[in-house]
Amino acid sequence: MNKITIAIDGFSSTGKSTLAKQLAKKLEYVYVDTGAMYRAVTLYAMQNGFVNEGHVDTKGLLNDLDKIQLKFVFNSDMGFAEMFLNGKNVEREIRTLDVSKNVSQVAEIKEVRSKLVSLQQDMGKDKGVVMDGRDIGTVVFPNAELKIFMTASPEKRAVRRYKELLDRGEVVKYEDILENVQKRDYIDSHRENSPLTKAKNAIEFDNSDMGLEQQFERIYEHTLRVI
Ligand code: C5P
Repeated sequence: MNKITIAIDGFSSTGKSTLAKQLAKKLEYVYVDTGAMYRAVTLYAMQNGFVNEGHVDTKGLLNDLDKIQLKFVFNSDMGFAEMFLNGKNVEREIRTLDVSKNVSQVAEIKEVRSKLVSLQQDMGKDKGVVMDGRDIGTVVFPNAELKIFMTASPEKRAVRRYKELLDRGEVVKYEDILENVQKRDYIDSHRENSPLTKAKNAIEFDNSDMGLEQQFERIYEHTLRVI
């Protein structure tokens, strides 16, 4: 079968990563969660005093950009790759609400994006990759053979995210999650550099009222038409 590039973009907590992981497993492709990369840079910025409550010391962070090393390491027990920041597994830390509150502000910075986009292009250069994010079909792989753009109502997405965080043992309020989801949507789609937008040839997919199985079947059908 022909190996292709699959780009899955969309708003926060639309279930992109769950679907992308499933699809990569089924096709025996590599899965790349680009949100994890922006989250890891944000964690570094938080740990080093370059960002606090959404205010970024851009100059300070950019001075340190070369010191930030990101690596995905496959965890065979979990069945997916985990994010390592400068040699340390940060998979849990990058998923907290604190990181979510700062990540969109860090992801607005042009130089941060250039660094991560070039890493992403390198990871996907041999095709056979499912990559999810905000700018995969528009900027990272504009020639991807299959592009999916996922949406769902903010409330549905906030409920999903809320449950996920509770399951992980984080103490959070639903209202805070909803506010964060909406704020990130706004910043991600209005920023100057690579704003979140649907690529012209992307298939739009609203999963507000769809179960996981049905979503997977629909996307897999589209995939089979392309490979
Ligand atoms: O996908 P996830 O919600 O983990 O992404 C976290 C944040 O990282 C997004 O809200 C967005 O600000 C940023 N991001 C981005 N471009 C990507 C992936 C994520 O700007 N390709």
